[in-house]
This record gives sequence, structure tokens and C-alpha cells, in this order.
Amino acid sequence: MSLIGKHALVTGSSRGIGRGIALKLAESGVKVAIHYYQNEAAANHTLAMVRERSVDSLIIQADVSRPGDVRRMFNQVRDEFGKLDIFVSNARPELATFYQAPLDITLRNWDMAVDSQAKAFLVGVQEATRLMTEGSRIIAVTYAPSARTGSWQPWIAMGSAKAAMESLCRYFAVALAKSGITVNAISPGLTEDSVLNSLPQEVQNLARGWHESGWTPMGRLTTPADVGNAVVLLCSEGAGWITGQVIAVDGGSSLMDTVFPLEIQQG
Ligand SMILES: NC(=O)c1ccc[n+]([C@@H]2O[C@H](COP(=O)([O-])OP(=O)(O)OC[C@H]3O[C@@H](n4cnc5c(N)ncnc54)[C@H](OP(=O)(O)O)[C@@H]3O)[C@@H](O)[C@H]2O)c1
Repeated sequence: MSLIGKHALVTGSSRGIGRGIALKLAESGVKVAIHYYQNEAAANHTLAMVRERSVDSLIIQADVSRPGDVRRMFNQVRDEFGKLDIFVSNARPELATFYQAPLDITLRNWDMAVDSQAKAFLVGVQEATRLMTEGSRIIAVTYAPSARTGSWQPWIAMGSAKAAMESLCRYFAVALAKSGITVNAISPGLTEDSVLNSLPQEVQNLARGWHESGWTPMGRLTTPADVGNAVVLLCSEGAGWITGQVIAVDGGSSLMDTVFPLEIQQG
């Protein structure tokens, strides 16, 4: 799919899902600003991979939990590109900064989750729209199960922050409808080559086995390329009537019902 001549900013594109999104956009001819927080080497690696796809690019550093940094990031985009067609809000802080059970969580943990997701998205969309014209696309990367369930206890702050981010998508979708700018969220399933790979090997093996056993009907984990493909689809002209939606990119895992063991459901 050709998106030649478009300009994008993908936060958290130094690695993981954000890198997968940046690479798929670059393959479609988009000039992508690659954003990172601390890992400049990883950002440079993404930059080299983007350039291999024969599109030039740049890297921008910012802490998205700080509104001043978010504004500076968009000022850099304006100075380099002069406009913006695609904004993907994907960055998420390290687990250690927010991962705490409900009865132990500190306000600092809470603020890191909410500031890096809901507040960063609020400020980011306000800044992005100053650079956008009709046909532009705004996409938030969420984890929808955590926004509506309560079982993954130390995820309380991030689940709440993702719920707020999804709600912001709906409000901004209406606010920007008359400008012809769509606002959607993408919800990946558990993804390879992401934060998952920083977890103990035993946890990774259990998670892969679980999804391969049928809890993801398509029988494998999501890849960053799967998510990048979905972003490219949403950026196509033909997706211009889709707005305010949370779109699962998960091989069907969000369709599963926990009421019975798989043997009974699929027997
Ligand atoms: N992984 C999954 O299975 C999964 C599933 C569903 C949804 N998601 C969502 O997908 C997104 C990406 O997840 P991932 O697992 O690919 O992440 P990841 O591999 O852990 O990468 C995190 C990215 O965010 C950046 N970052 C970290 N702290 C930051 C801060 N304070 N300010 C700005 N940027 C910061 C990192 O930059 P540096 O490299 O500079 O540190 C990196 O680019 C997240 O929104 C996550 O909630 C992930």
C-alpha cells in the first residue's frame, strides 16, 4: 500500500511494537520520525532499518510523561517536516515504574502510568492537530483487555491509564470528525520482540504455550509487523470512515470466553 509523501511520528519506535509500526510505515513510503526515551542505540538501529527501506528519517528524544517534552517533540516534528499526517502514540514506560498491586501502588507509580498514556495522548493530540490537515490519522496503542478486566493485579495503573486513553480516542474522534481526521486505538495481543522478551524465559514459555494451545485461535503470538500492518491499513484512504474504534490485532484472542476450559469449548 502506498502512503508516499506522508509524514509520521511514532512514539516508542526505538524498539518493540513501535519499531514494527515504523518499519511498516517506511515500507509504504512514509517518512517517519523515530522517537525514543533513553535507548539511543536502539533508536539508531531502527533509523538504519528505516533507511534500508529507502526512506530518510530522523530520531527524537522525549519523556512522554512530561508535557513539556511532548510539546518539544512536536516542535521538532514541525521544524523538520513542516506538517504531520500520522501520529501513533505507542510509548510505554518500563514495568518497574508503574507495576504494583492495588493495595501497594504509590501515587508515583500511578502518575507514571496515567501521565505517559492519557496525559501524553491528550497533549500529543492537541499538538499533532496543529500540524495536520484533512485525511490525517491518529492512532493510540492500547491493551484493551486490561482496560476492562481486573485480574492482572499489578497492571491496575496501566489498565486504568489505557481505559482513559481509549476514552480520549472517542472524544477526539468526534472533536476532529469535521476536520476529516480519524482517531482510533489498536489493541495488540501479547506480542513477540517486545517487553515480553525482557521477562524470565519460563514466563515467556508459559505465555507462548498458552496462546499456541488455542487461547489465541490463530495459534501464535502477535508480531510487531502484524501491528504495523494494521496501522498502515488504518492510514489508507479507504479507512477514512473508521473513527473512534478500538481495533483488536490479536489473531482472535479477544474472542475467547473463559467460562469453560478449551477442551469443552472446542471439543
Ligand atoms: N508487548 C505486548 O505484548 C503488548 C500488548 C498489547 C499492547 N502493548 C502496547 O504496545 C506499546 C508498546 O509496547 P512494547 O512492549 O513494544 O514496548 P517496549 O518494547 O517495552 O518499548 C517501549 C518503548 O517506549 C519507550 N519509552 C519508555 N519509557 C518512556 C518514556 N518515559 N517516555 C517516552 N518513551 C518511553 C522506549 O524507549 P527507549 O527504547 O528509549 O527506552 C521504547 O521505545 C505499549 O503502549 C504497550 O502498552 C504491548
